[in-house]
Amino acid sequence: MKDIKSIKKELNSKNDFRKKHTEAVVKVAVNMAKRYEIDITKVRIAALLHDYARNFSNKELIKIVKNNNIEIDDWEKELPNLLHSPVGAFLAKKEFKIEDKEILNAIRYHTIGRPDMSLIEKIIFIADIIEPNRDFPGVNLIREKVKVDIDKAVILVCDFTIKYNIERRRIIHPNTLLTRNKLLKGEY
Ligand SMILES: [Fe+2]
Ligand SMILES: [Fe+2]
Repeated sequence: MKDIKSIKKELNSKNDFRKKHTEAVVKVAVNMAKRYEIDITKVRIAALLHDYARNFSNKELIKIVKNNNIEIDDWEKELPNLLHSPVGAFLAKKEFKIEDKEILNAIRYHTIGRPDMSLIEKIIFIADIIEPNRDFPGVNLIREKVKVDIDKAVILVCDFTIKYNIERRRIIHPNTLLTRNKLLKGEY
């Protein structure tokens, strides 16, 4: 596995316009990792690489998925903008030699979520949406919630994503609904 320094060097050399977002996600995610007392290095790597494939064109993403038999579901086939997550996880393994399942899953599911996410996955899923450059009604509520109850914060992120897609009449990936349902289940 490459170390953080060389990962950062490679990301910088790409002069990524997502750099600002990525740096902010790293900061927020590391803070959360400290609060929840989990492996900061793993969280840092997942945050650094979560949007590695974000700037690729849809055409490029589809090509990488096909050429490498990356497993995607039928909904992801319909929604090429989601493909930067599975492609990012694939490249994290291939180019950065990351084998750690939790890091790879955190990258793989950062956009759609999945029921039974690990703590690292939850942290990246949330940090992506609440980093300081994000501004939408309700974002502060999530920022507060995450300090006391990470699962409730995940529910709020799902709420945001679902509403966002409804307002734009877009398909909602079922994982986001399943994640929300699973976490809500114990609440009644
Ligand atoms: Fe992303
Ligand atoms: Fe992101």
